[in-house]
Amino acid sequence: MKKFCSAVALLLATLSAFADDAKMDKFVGTLLGKMTLSEKIGQLNLQPAGEVQTGSAMDTQVGGLVAEGRLGAVLNLTGKDRIRALQEVAVGKSRLGIPLLVGLDVIHGYKTIFPIPLAQSCSWDIPAIEAAARIAADECSSDGISWTYSPMVDVALDARWGRIMEGSGEDPYLGGLVAAALVRGYQGDFRHRQNILACLKHFALYGAVEAGRDYNTVDMSRLRMFNQFFPPYKAAVEAGVGSVMTSFNLVDGLHATANPWLLRDVLRQSWGFGGFVVTDYASINEMETWGFGGQKDNALNALRAGTDMDMCSQAFLNHLEEAVRQGLVAEKDIDEACRRVLEAKYRLGLFKDPYRHCSMSDKEQARHLFTPAHRQEARDLAAETFVLLKNEGNILPLRKQGKIALIGPNSDTTDGLLGSWCVERPARDAYPSLLQAMREYLKGKAEVLHAQGCNLSDDERQDAAGFANAPYRTTPRVNPKQALQEALRIAAEADVIVYAGGEGAEWSGESHSRADLELPACQKALLSAIKALGKPVVMLNFSGRPTAMGWEKENLPALMNVWFGGTEAGFAICDVLFGDKAPSGRLTASIPQATGQEPLYYNHLNTGRPVSAYDGNFRQYQSNYFEVSNGPAFPFGYGLTYSSFKYGEMTVKQEGRNVTASVAVTNEGSRDAVEVVQCYIHDVACRYARPVKELKGFERIMLRRGETKTISISLTEQELGSYDSEGRFFFEPGEFDIMLGANSSNVQTKRINID
Ligand code: BGC
Repeated sequence: MKKFCSAVALLLATLSAFADDAKMDKFVGTLLGKMTLSEKIGQLNLQPAGEVQTGSAMDTQVGGLVAEGRLGAVLNLTGKDRIRALQEVAVGKSRLGIPLLVGLDVIHGYKTIFPIPLAQSCSWDIPAIEAAARIAADECSSDGISWTYSPMVDVALDARWGRIMEGSGEDPYLGGLVAAALVRGYQGDFRHRQNILACLKHFALYGAVEAGRDYNTVDMSRLRMFNQFFPPYKAAVEAGVGSVMTSFNLVDGLHATANPWLLRDVLRQSWGFGGFVVTDYASINEMETWGFGGQKDNALNALRAGTDMDMCSQAFLNHLEEAVRQGLVAEKDIDEACRRVLEAKYRLGLFKDPYRHCSMSDKEQARHLFTPAHRQEARDLAAETFVLLKNEGNILPLRKQGKIALIGPNSDTTDGLLGSWCVERPARDAYPSLLQAMREYLKGKAEVLHAQGCNLSDDERQDAAGFANAPYRTTPRVNPKQALQEALRIAAEADVIVYAGGEGAEWSGESHSRADLELPACQKALLSAIKALGKPVVMLNFSGRPTAMGWEKENLPALMNVWFGGTEAGFAICDVLFGDKAPSGRLTASIPQATGQEPLYYNHLNTGRPVSAYDGNFRQYQSNYFEVSNGPAFPFGYGLTYSSFKYGEMTVKQEGRNVTASVAVTNEGSRDAVEVVQCYIHDVACRYARPVKELKGFERIMLRRGETKTISISLTEQELGSYDSEGRFFFEPGEFDIMLGANSSNVQTKRINID
């Protein structure tokens, strides 16, 4: 009966979707029929409108373009009243009254800032990540935004690349799950005000820029694209993402913005993407700098390849009309692109109510922005993202008593908690720094002494990175000698020292690549001096990327990566530091021992000369380095907690090509805690060499102390097979290693044969 009811429900939903699509086709078709060529091209034009002021939109260039029907979408305009003013121009002053799409980079929250995406992925908590996206959509859509440039799902293997902070790290499978969750969270079913349009980016391969230097070139085999880099994009398309942004880089020698193979063959034809494609910021203009001829050719090639909307180059606006007259592009190609943009507006309900995102009263809006409920969710998720890397002698959790010295350049900053890509953010005194949170948290129980201790880095310019145009402040510059003395003075008084350091909040993100991933010398010097006091020291590493941690691993007893945790990070850190919550984050990007190991990732190929067991010695004629072993300081999937887990012996059941791997996991420690049981495979012999390990399933479980649960992870041909260089999926019978364990370096393995 249950099955019958759900079949009926599915049928009804499908019928209603068909009916909705038919209505949309009719509406959009009729509208297109009324549009002039210039108006159609206008819909393909996206420009920034940050300078538009309430009431004077008509006076600006943007207002003028909107009124003429030559602008279909804007970005970087914030505030519901300003957005409403411009929407009124579109609806009231343009000939056909077509509403604008209003886009913004809402990357990890709008007013309530969640942890940076890389951190969120370390929670491995897919429903919580989806909920965070839903909250971000609720908040920004109450303030006029209908389109976010998220999810960014670029697989990133090189921590030098600053934009690694925007994605889910190095694994395509986990990246795909997160990508789909974010799409669901933003878009919902498009029926409500808080369902906004998502934009999958950056298509494709942006995470593979050479040497981790932003905007650099990419060159990659198609085999690698299909297997290692494409899966998260594909997952987002399958989840129904409504728009896709092209990347700044080349794919196979062509710019991603004008690459017919990428946009037509792969994205539309093979994956069935039905939404619209937008360029990245001024990409068409950049094509000339890359060496692809002039603006007109580049605009035409972009359109022909399947790009529908031009962000910030005005190249479509400048050339398409003339090109149609000259017979260089067919008007039907412009109709096709315009139709896709109009369909997105229709799905968002903008034709029914163009003001649906910008009509709340301030009072009503306050019930959606930075609310206690949203902040609580952000605090809970932040606590799940911290990765406990080392905890010698069980220093953590700390006791809520005595004197605690909180030292370090990230200890008393609020802007410095957020990380890059927070276009909108609450006022800096609307949420606490770590120091403020800790004092509040421990009120009446323990005393918190504080000193900044040192600068973030020895390089003043780096400390100011990212803040040139923004009124953000992280950590003030201090006199190094005095700061050190002050830190040592309070450390000497304290029972335990918590050091809050690492990177500055804007050292990662767009255009913030680094050639040196180690902790700056001034921070190491301070830590060494503190450590020499012989007291327990805990380092909280704030970072937007994996930092090279050979030194920290060797020299510090307790180490927790807290990334950039957002507006609620201060209290979330206290929750975990003082044991009200047990850490549960697991790394989604390998932490290197040394910068020179990058790109470093667990799912690498074996090579013909691997070093299988490292004994501390360099091996002549094998694949290794003089200075460090090949492995990371801390591997993918790794993270400790305040309890310990025992794994029983794994079993593998086979039924044809369906494989189930099971293992009993017992919480042997003294408190409840989360374990993430991970399943990896290795295709032992295949026509193409396959990675040494590939994550293909996991389960995040809460185990009470003493509790045992048996976890079973099922694999099918889908997980065991791979793509050939034409993008055809295949399964090759033979031997496979099936692995279960607590992280990518700690697994049990069973070899099986599949016919
Ligand atoms: C970035 C995109 C972003 C766009 C709009 C570009 O510079 O690469 O990720 O969405 O700007 O702000």
